[in-house]
Amino acid sequence: MNTVHKATSAVPTSYGASERPPRGDYARAGQVHADYTCPQNYAAYTEQDHDTYRRLYERQAALVPGLACDEFIAALPALGAKDRIPRFEDINARLYKATRWEIVAVPGLIPEVPFFTLLANRKFPVTDWLRTPAEFDYIVEPDVFHDLFGHVPLLFNPVYANHIQDYGKGGLKAFGLGACEQLSRLYWYTIEFGLMRQTNGLRAYGAGILSSGGELQYSVHSEKPNRIALSPERVMRTRYKIDSYQQTYFVIDSFQQLFDLTAPDFTPLYQRVKAQSELAADARLPEDATIAP
Ligand code: PHE
Ligand code: FE
Repeated sequence: MNTVHKATSAVPTSYGASERPPRGDYARAGQVHADYTCPQNYAAYTEQDHDTYRRLYERQAALVPGLACDEFIAALPALGAKDRIPRFEDINARLYKATRWEIVAVPGLIPEVPFFTLLANRKFPVTDWLRTPAEFDYIVEPDVFHDLFGHVPLLFNPVYANHIQDYGKGGLKAFGLGACEQLSRLYWYTIEFGLMRQTNGLRAYGAGILSSGGELQYSVHSEKPNRIALSPERVMRTRYKIDSYQQTYFVIDSFQQLFDLTAPDFTPLYQRVKAQSELAADARLPEDATIAP
């Protein structure tokens, strides 16, 4: 019968309202589009997910005064809900008005070209699933907390927002030039782990730092890591660690400076970098402009 047939076949709700969104499910019963975006599947978050998000937000929000850059602190309230995972459409109502950016749900990390294409179109991909309570302090891949708390507040800042769009366009160009690795190092050491020198001292603007319980304090205050004034060439030569605190942080003075340093055509720079030796994550060069914590 028609009704039975309908009820047992692919009505596109891939999992029940009490199951968490599965990580790494790039099929999702046909819900993932060709551009890798998918519905947020809000009904699939469990009460435990909402509680984990609430605790993550509470811990991180308490850490940001004095450690996060002023632009981030000013924009954080625009995320909305603190006690539950926010609905992306609610954030978008505010974000689009502020900078004409939107966030879109994705099932996890996506390939380079679709990633750059979304950014070039002012769409920021946000992973929709949340870490388990066992991963409260540390998670190896981005989840909805990292993506929302770390990346989205700064998209309310016009200069930063334009920079991320240019990064997306630059990524598509780098792909054509075989230079994604070089460009991804720039992303890593700026968008993910960047520090900014403000009038009241060093502050974090990198999403990987802002969403980390331990590295926020470490990156700003520890005597151990190198802190070097941002040079795109130096950064593009430098490998990075994905499983420990960074051994080197690169420091900007403002988002406008970041925008200006990355505005020139990178084609000759990629060529120069590829001809040079790579540097270890903890390397120090005589010409590095070091910055005290
Ligand atoms: N200016 C870079 C190029 O020509 C593109 C870019 C812009 C890269 C902003 C990163 C950030 O390739
Ligand atoms: Fe990130």
